[in-house]
Amino acid sequence: MTQVRTALITGAGRGIGRAIAVGLAAEGFQVAVNYHSNSSAADEALELCRAAGAPKAVAVQADISIPAEASKLLETVEAELGQVDVLINNAGRAPSERADILEASRESFDDLLSVNLAGPYFLTQAVARTWLADTESATRRRAVAFISSISAETVSLNRGEYCISKAGIAMASKLWAARLAPHQIPVIEIRPGIMKTDMTSAVQDVYDKKIADGLVPQRRWGVPEDIARITSALARGDLDFCSGAVVYADGGFHISRL
Ligand SMILES: NC(=O)c1ccc[n+]([C@@H]2O[C@H](COP(=O)([O-])OP(=O)(O)OC[C@H]3O[C@@H](n4cnc5c(N)ncnc54)[C@H](O)[C@@H]3O)[C@@H](O)[C@H]2O)c1
Repeated sequence: MTQVRTALITGAGRGIGRAIAVGLAAEGFQVAVNYHSNSSAADEALELCRAAGAPKAVAVQADISIPAEASKLLETVEAELGQVDVLINNAGRAPSERADILEASRESFDDLLSVNLAGPYFLTQAVARTWLADTESATRRRAVAFISSISAETVSLNRGEYCISKAGIAMASKLWAARLAPHQIPVIEIRPGIMKTDMTSAVQDVYDKKIADGLVPQRRWGVPEDIARITSALARGDLDFCSGAVVYADGGFHISRL
């Protein structure tokens, strides 16, 4: 009998996280949809996961930047679905207000670093501890992905704290990749470009024009499914020898051109 595997996707009520959850459901995973506050969006995500083939799907509310909530999240997922096999660190936020780095507040910096960097870093630590403590199930196929951004290496002067949080995620991914590689657990960073989701809805017109003008060599917006295909490949085991890889999903945005 084939083993049922479990995936935990943070911030999966909508957007990229939702598409990742649905993609993993289609791969036959039991899916834990973590959401921050919108329970009806999370319920919709669950319906889509079930329709896609998830044997079981649960929604778990938690703010991943609050340590007690992150611990409770993991406990609940383990109680409902068993041990996590695949962790997708997707949850993230943009600053509530875009402000030049001369003006931006310390409060916004602390907030973004807490949600976008400390949250995923320590959630990965908690999951990795359960894996390494449980030698009996060491043969299960496990994996971790961090969703960073082209902002890990591209400056935006009106959201410095976001860029720094994503640059930090790039290092977090390398650290966990090195730590878990001897255990045959691949960890990758996925670096999306300009993606059509709620996060970018307020700046859609600006990016429509920039994309049409060639900022993105493939001349289109990224869509959540562009990222979901990568996480599905990771979860299937197609990227098992790619520990520490950075997978750009940006239509060629990162290519320096003359
Ligand atoms: N949209 C883009 O252009 C783009 C580009 C590069 C990277 N990304 C990254 O992709 C990821 C997904 O973003 P998206 O575009 O789908 O945006 P989104 O705003 O639609 O989704 C982000 C999700 O994360 C959740 N979230 C935020 N803070 C949380 C917290 N503290 N605890 C739990 N959940 C939390 C939100 O509730 C939301 O469901 C983010 O990490 C984002 O930084 C997005």
